[in-house]
Amino acid sequence: MISGTTQVLGVIGDPIAHTSSPAMHNAALAALGLDFLYSPFHVEPAELSQALAGMRALEIAGLNVTVPHKQAVMDYLDEISEEARVIGAVNTICNRDGRLLGYNTDAFGIIQSLRVDGGMEELPPRVALLGAGGAARAILYALLAQEEVEEILLLNRTVDKAETLADDLGGEGRVVVGSLAEVGGIEDIGLLINSTALGMHPHEETSPLEAPACLHERMLVADIVYNPLQTVLMRQAEDAGARSINGLGMLAWQGARSFEIWTGVQPPVMAMVDAALEQFERAGA
Ligand code: ATR
Repeated sequence: MISGTTQVLGVIGDPIAHTSSPAMHNAALAALGLDFLYSPFHVEPAELSQALAGMRALEIAGLNVTVPHKQAVMDYLDEISEEARVIGAVNTICNRDGRLLGYNTDAFGIIQSLRVDGGMEELPPRVALLGAGGAARAILYALLAQEEVEEILLLNRTVDKAETLADDLGGEGRVVVGSLAEVGGIEDIGLLINSTALGMHPHEETSPLEAPACLHERMLVADIVYNPLQTVLMRQAEDAGARSINGLGMLAWQGARSFEIWTGVQPPVMAMVDAALEQFERAGA
């Protein structure tokens, strides 16, 4: 029940109506009986500084930050974690006694999803990462932090963007840049991660792989897309005998990490996944 002591969490973005974060977080808060609520806030870019001033004034305990504010919001924070600084984006703000602290939980989200949802205790030595946008930045950062990953093939339609990303994140020769068109010919990869928009609504009939020759039964294919829940790429993986996961796990695990930062409590992640699925069904109805 909302009372005089209830603390407020939320998500800011533009647009915001499609977000599944309120469903996920409110489900976890209810399951644990915590005295918080989580609300969506529509914030246009021109209103961002006022929104952050409002966060301080209203003593909002925590916010998730989504498109298009993940970079711009950094100007209004008191501290930014090393991870968020290197990735160059903040998706979580925690209000600690009036100080706004910025974090990025996407890197945690992908690794945790690969390990828990993908069943990979250890990541393989060779990984292919498709795409070089905002999501790829966090994923490349996360992969570089895993010592067992020796080589990352970073393939993008616009090769220049992949080169810039690889240069920004360093990686001491562990990142090999190439064109997305080369993906069919790559060999010996144990993990392929798609962070491109190919396969995502409204492009659900597309796949980053024209010929699935690089797929084999000892690998995992991780698509960060969750709309649709099964992409063409995931079907190609299945046909080749490979395991595949969608982006729902990454979404839930990054949210779980934000939740823990705000409340100090680990949330029930499966309840968050179920709430997100219900939300998708309602949105599709
Ligand atoms: P996100 O934050 O989800 O990563 P983004 O920053 O807009 O979104 O990045 C989109 C990614 O999808 C990029 O890697 C983009 O490739 P380019 O850098 O060449 O634009 C990729 N992408 C989008 N549409 C694509 C298409 N039709 N074919 C191949 N790649 C595409």
